[in-house]
Amino acid sequence: MTRLYRASYPAGSSVFKQGDIDDRAYIIESGKVEISTPQGVLAVLPQSEIFGEMALLDQGARSASARALEDTSLIVIERQQIQNKIDRADPVLRYMLSLLLDRLRSTHRALSGQTFVNDPEESALERAKKIAVDDLHQHAIRRLNLEREISLAVERKEFFVVYQPIMRLTPFEISGFEALIRWKHPERGMVSPMDFIPVAEETGLIVPIGAMVLDAALGQTESWLSKKIGPNSLSMAINLSARQFFDQSDFEAVLKQVTSSGVPTNQVKLEVTESIIMDNPERVGGILGEIKQTGSLLSLDDFGTGYSSFSYLHQYPFDVLKVDRSFVSRIVGSQRNHDIVRAIVGLAHDLGMEVVAEGIEKDEEAETLRKLGCEYGQGYRFAKPLSADDATAFMQRGKPN
Ligand code: C2E
Ligand code: CMP
Ligand code: CA
Ligand code: CA
Repeated sequence: MTRLYRASYPAGSSVFKQGDIDDRAYIIESGKVEISTPQGVLAVLPQSEIFGEMALLDQGARSASARALEDTSLIVIERQQIQNKIDRADPVLRYMLSLLLDRLRSTHRALSGQTFVNDPEESALERAKKIAVDDLHQHAIRRLNLEREISLAVERKEFFVVYQPIMRLTPFEISGFEALIRWKHPERGMVSPMDFIPVAEETGLIVPIGAMVLDAALGQTESWLSKKIGPNSLSMAINLSARQFFDQSDFEAVLKQVTSSGVPTNQVKLEVTESIIMDNPERVGGILGEIKQTGSLLSLDDFGTGYSSFSYLHQYPFDVLKVDRSFVSRIVGSQRNHDIVRAIVGLAHDLGMEVVAEGIEKDEEAETLRKLGCEYGQGYRFAKPLSADDATAFMQRGKPN
């Protein structure tokens, strides 16, 4: 972390000159600063104003000169301090910001009578900047398109739900399913939820999408139960997104859907990821408590991927802990992973939770997990996510394969 530091400028001294290369910005702590170009004074900035932000943001040359009009104290902002914020900003906004700066600079040039000369000896920095901006542009365009396409896909009902069996490990038998969303794009084919869930989340489109998943998964479970397909205790696990969890009215809508379906609430398992919990630990307790009051069960998804923190586990009323695939796929052949999973299973049991191992692909993995006392498993070893019809057939065959 860069430390904040101050710089003093006596009345009349220059802070920087137009054309200088430097990427710091300044906050006027006391005093006054004049911004000017050879054509005249652009502004006189009082205390608490910021200047020099243009070069800080786009690393171009200073667009104007800055001079202290009184004895002035400035707080220096280094690019490094805001680099993180820039990197994390929405790519569309980043692109528009760079566009805005570019346009402002070209207005400056036009007003000062400079004509645009295409410099054949363009510097490496200029070229690198152009590539970065082009990249940002592409990203922004793709992103805007994706947002539009997701919203169209909701209208055109291009989303559907598939069901991946969750198996008891001793003996192998079906215990329930996890509902997973799929998007069949008319031109691009199947789009992974990893590619569209985060965007749907940011735009709020996750709300209608999530409602559709709940509706389909609960309706399908109700139908299996009423037709006596699969065990009476068949459970359905449904993923909740941060928005469905933290937004009061969206959250209430989820609870309403769960409690008004024909599926006994204790056969519904709502999955929240470890990262959702850790992002907002103080609000989580109350929300999880409300879910528990409906009688639904709670699963902690992707355990081990985020902060791998055991310390918070006992604070929250989870019924199920899902060990992330990254541990499971390395459990055979890595003593360390084996020991970690053993510790996780032991701790979960001590806290009264059942354990589901995610992403079991091999017999050996299932066998190792079974020996470690892990009750449930999910993965391609048993079945990939299945259409409702294939899931029905899977249950009617009675056992996997
Ligand atoms: P997740 O909740 O951890 O779901 C498990 C993912 O692992 C699924 O990916 C599943 O297809 C995949 N998987 C299962 N077994 C294996 C295996 O043996 N090997 C490998 N390599 N992969 C396996 P999928 O369906 O692509 O979903 C990805 C993620 O998208 C999910 O991870 C979940 O975080 C999110 N997601 C999916 N559906 C929904 C939904 O309806 N709502 C929300 N909010 N998120 C969803
Ligand atoms: P930068 O280009 O880094 O250095 C000169 C600074 O002057 C610039 O950032 C802005 O902070 C400021 N500046 C440029 N144009 C104007 C303007 N039209 N009005 C006020 N301030 C300006
Ligand atoms: Ca999940
Ligand atoms: Ca998971």
